[in-house]
Amino acid sequence: MHFPRAAVFAALPFLASALTTGDRHRGYACPAPVLNVTAVFGPGLSAGASIHFASDPDFNTTTVQRYTPWHQPTFQVTIKPSTPEDVQFIVKTANKYHVPFYATGGGHGGDAKSNTVHNAIDIDLSNFQENVFDAAANTLTVGPGISFGDFQKNLYDVGKFVPTGNAFCVNMIGATLGAAHGPFQGLGGLGIDRLRSVRLVTAAGDIVTASDTENSDLFWAVRGAGANFGIVLSATYEALDAPNGGNLVQADFQYDGAANYSLWQLLQSWDTTYPKEMGLTITAALVRATGKVSLTSSMTYFGPQEDAQPWIDQFLSLNPVRWQNQTMPYYNASAAQAFGTGANSCRKGMWNSHPSAAAKVTNPETYMSVLNQYAKIMTDRPWLTGIMFLQRFNTTVTQSVPKNKQGVYPGRDFGTLIMINNFFDGADHDADVYQATAPLRSQLAATSGFGKLQTYINYAYGDEGPAVWFGEENLPRLAKLKKQWDPKNKFGAAYPIPF
Ligand SMILES: Cc1cc2nc3c(=O)[nH]c(=O)nc-3n(C[C@H](O)[C@H](O)[C@H](O)COP(=O)(O)OP(=O)(O)OC[C@H]3O[C@@H](n4cnc5c(N)ncnc54)[C@H](O)[C@@H]3O)c2cc1C
Ligand SMILES: *[C@@H]1O[C@H](CO)[C@@H](O)[C@H](O)[C@H]1NC(C)=O
Ligand SMILES: *[C@@H]1O[C@H](CO)[C@@H](O)[C@H](O)[C@H]1NC(C)=O
Ligand SMILES: *[C@@H]1O[C@H](CO)[C@@H](O)[C@H](O)[C@H]1NC(C)=O
Ligand SMILES: *[C@@H]1O[C@H](CO)[C@@H](O)[C@H](O)[C@H]1NC(C)=O
Ligand SMILES: *[C@@H]1O[C@H](CO)[C@@H](O)[C@H](O)[C@H]1NC(C)=O
Ligand SMILES: *[C@@H]1O[C@H](CO)[C@@H](O)[C@H](O)[C@H]1NC(C)=O
Repeated sequence: MHFPRAAVFAALPFLASALTTGDRHRGYACPAPVLNVTAVFGPGLSAGASIHFASDPDFNTTTVQRYTPWHQPTFQVTIKPSTPEDVQFIVKTANKYHVPFYATGGGHGGDAKSNTVHNAIDIDLSNFQENVFDAAANTLTVGPGISFGDFQKNLYDVGKFVPTGNAFCVNMIGATLGAAHGPFQGLGGLGIDRLRSVRLVTAAGDIVTASDTENSDLFWAVRGAGANFGIVLSATYEALDAPNGGNLVQADFQYDGAANYSLWQLLQSWDTTYPKEMGLTITAALVRATGKVSLTSSMTYFGPQEDAQPWIDQFLSLNPVRWQNQTMPYYNASAAQAFGTGANSCRKGMWNSHPSAAAKVTNPETYMSVLNQYAKIMTDRPWLTGIMFLQRFNTTVTQSVPKNKQGVYPGRDFGTLIMINNFFDGADHDADVYQATAPLRSQLAATSGFGKLQTYINYAYGDEGPAVWFGEENLPRLAKLKKQWDPKNKFGAAYPIPF
């Protein structure tokens, strides 16, 4: 245990503020009660658990910080459980005292409705560092403290891979609860397609396993609506053999803004020929010093250089101002990308909102128009540092997964994810940024090939609604499961399921 006595008193003014809020917080008709957290929770936790208050001098380095404070939940305390029983105890005790709780994995979520969680108990899962490859079963089992990077490194060392997302810092289980889209999905499908089972703590504080053979309905819901159903303590994935000895070609191409239309045309020319080995991240940013846009296209090709070369050549034909290519272990690609600056995308603490849309066809005119408008929006707002961000995948594997193995996630035909990634200076500009950039999302949706707004739940802004997050056709079954597993609506504040 670790709860400096002084911290309890230092935290009192903060805790007292709960008494003055008139808000109805989720699931309860009255404000979150102010507890003496150390007295209530301390005695029931294991020796490895710890309790942390925001006023502790070491709070920022001992607890998982959020990627963005934008619309973040507020917490009266952070508890770091170290055993499954700790998590059960926290959930049951919080229920007993009618205090809301919120699971934190890697802290990368950022969504409009998370701020409906007030004065909750933050259950920081970073002690759950399990990361075990079982050679006989050909599976990797990880805890919610494990990032894409940790996950990949372990599998690389045994010649295996499981598709993850891109940025190495993001939490594997957190991403999997939505789908886990990433550069290797053309070869292995979504993260959820390799998921074989999860162990989770339910809203009632019970531990259950969900898989194809146990609680299979719950397993369906976890794959796409996972954050609505429990606290996942471990997830087991089936491993695939890594192509090319686990080494891939990583290449970056930088272009002047003037080349944007040619680049979008190149993407369009690949709408039916995009190779399954290739992952692509494109960012377009305004360079303040020049007042012009610069584009960076980072690709991975999970195969030998000679197979990657024809695709590299097509990027070269657009005359990049700078480029490089190199072969490396696949787990290194995220940090290496964008000319070695990939780690920048993992910086935490910036005010960030992100209208986003998915597409199955590329419309160069729309992409050019959206970029031009966004450049103007940024030029007019010196405090807004935005990135138009695209990720591109081959969807043959994700679409070939049989219906009964799919889970709830509705985005199997999302070939491109596009995000208007706004970084700015705080809440005072929220409304303005939303009014300026939400229309860009609508324009992207209109020519996406879907005829309506679709987006990946984990990239969503948070205002799209359940039909977009989960698929209209899945809502009745989801509502039934929600009633069964979380009748008091303890989970899923960010992307609520109507029931
Ligand atoms: C820089 C950056 C890059 C990204 N890149 C990708 C990418 O390439 N591919 C991709 O698919 N996604 C990507 N994402 C999105 C990412 O999948 C989501 O942000 C995801 O929610 C992050 O999980 P987390 O545990 O880190 O976040 P958190 O904020 O800790 O959690 C997000 C939500 O999930 C819940 N949750 C987290 N862990 C658990 C758990 N163990 N049990 C139950 N509920 C839990 C939380 O309560 C919260 O509602 C990226 C995000 C960022 C910020
Ligand atoms: C809270 O409980 C702890 C442990 O029981 C106790 O030492 C402390 O005095 C209590 N704090 C307050 C403000 O009551
Ligand atoms: C901890 O982080 C918060 C939020 O980013 C910040 O306001 C605060 O100053 C930090 N505290 C310390 C001690 O660094
Ligand atoms: C995008 O390309 C078009 C056509 O070349 C060009 O007119 C426009 O200025 C470019 N946009 C930006 C932001 O550079
Ligand atoms: C995806 O890859 C497969 C296999 O290489 C290929 O047949 C298919 O045409 C590709 N799909 C797209 C949309 O490019
Ligand atoms: C691209 O890769 C090849 C093969 O490794 C290498 O010879 C060449 O120097 C690389 N070019 C650049 C610009 O990185
Ligand atoms: C890969 O990443 C590891 C750890 O992050 C680093 O030590 C190593 O130098 C990198 N290797 C290559 C080939 O980039």
